[in-house]
Amino acid sequence: MSLTEKLTLEEIRRKRPSKYAGLEEGVISLGLAESDFEMPKEVKEAMISAILEGRYHYEMDGVVEFLEAAMDKLSRFNGISAGKEEILPTVGAMNGIWLAYRILLKPGDHVIVVTPSYPALIGRPKSLQAEVTEAKVRKDGHLDLAVIEKAVSSRTRMITICNPNNPTGTVYTKDELEQLAEIAIRHDLYVLSDELYENLTYDGRKHVSIASLPGMRERAITLFGFTKTYGMSGLRIGYVVAEREIIRKMKDENTGIVIHPGTVEQIGAAAALKKCDYYIDFLKNYLEKVRNRLVAMLSETPGVTISPPEGAFFAFPNLIPLFENDKDAVEYLLKEARVLVHGGSGFGEGGAGHVRINFCSPLEIIEEAANRIRSALIKRHDAIGLKNKSLGNIV
Ligand SMILES: Cc1ncc(COP(=O)(O)O)c(C=O)c1O
Repeated sequence: MSLTEKLTLEEIRRKRPSKYAGLEEGVISLGLAESDFEMPKEVKEAMISAILEGRYHYEMDGVVEFLEAAMDKLSRFNGISAGKEEILPTVGAMNGIWLAYRILLKPGDHVIVVTPSYPALIGRPKSLQAEVTEAKVRKDGHLDLAVIEKAVSSRTRMITICNPNNPTGTVYTKDELEQLAEIAIRHDLYVLSDELYENLTYDGRKHVSIASLPGMRERAITLFGFTKTYGMSGLRIGYVVAEREIIRKMKDENTGIVIHPGTVEQIGAAAALKKCDYYIDFLKNYLEKVRNRLVAMLSETPGVTISPPEGAFFAFPNLIPLFENDKDAVEYLLKEARVLVHGGSGFGEGGAGHVRINFCSPLEIIEEAANRIRSALIKRHDAIGLKNKSLGNIV
């Protein structure tokens, strides 16, 4: 099955039990951040060969072909020159989030997290008794550098960003990242940059890794992954890139928890990096069309405010004034539209009132979901008798 041979809703439902758990027949699940496409055949073949050849034992220092493929991709795509000792394979990006906070924070430290953002990036420092300040982004989803600067205190240890952003899709520009880097350097801070969606940027935008900017190589901890764009969320594999001493400490810590991510997974991920640029190019072009269709359909819906996402695979419309809060919006859409979406409140400040819609799915499925959402929201709009009869807004 290639990316062009798209799965039907029934097949997707069967192959993604978590995404469809507890949902009635006919419901479209766009809540979980997961791709509905098959992973590249090269990844499957590499993993099958690894098993047949007996390559499934401990490889304590990381699978060499994975580290080499990551080094090559980092220099080619991210402009980061890293040696093997500066890369740590992890059990998904989640493992990297935990390790970064665990190694760099002590109780009482302060972290600035740019929000809305992926919940673990906001929540994990708190479990280490570190304090978190959320730096809400501007209305257009880009960094509010004045808010970030104002949040810095003598206890601040790091600033966390997610670029491209989950849930807003914002892709930070080189210019704003340079300004963020200037703040980090001036205050001697680390920057934790989650770049899981690095491959998905639309309208010709380029992904910029903050670690590639002058003075940032030693202070950036960058998280990369495969789970989303290569459609392999259950193969728990990702990697962290940071300065050698930080990686050494992370590796020691991980040895006591998981030892290392699967050898077979690392071999599959190496194939993704070495052989599957074509897959990423195809997916990105395809998703740009899906995004355009979804945004066009929702922006014609009264009461909906939506910005075309610049990257990743989420739309994040604001549904206030149609609902009092996003929890009500999620419940309503599940019941009336039979589409499951994700409430925005969980993504921190700036998320409330929004819902996150995952559009990493065949166009036909997203069109069907968007039609159902639009009809349900028009019904809602008419039922509550909103005075403002205007069409929705693109901002
Ligand atoms: C921004 C971000 N970081 C990390 C993760 C965790 O990813 P993984 O499945 O690779 O552990 C996710 C999953 O949704 C995510 O969206």
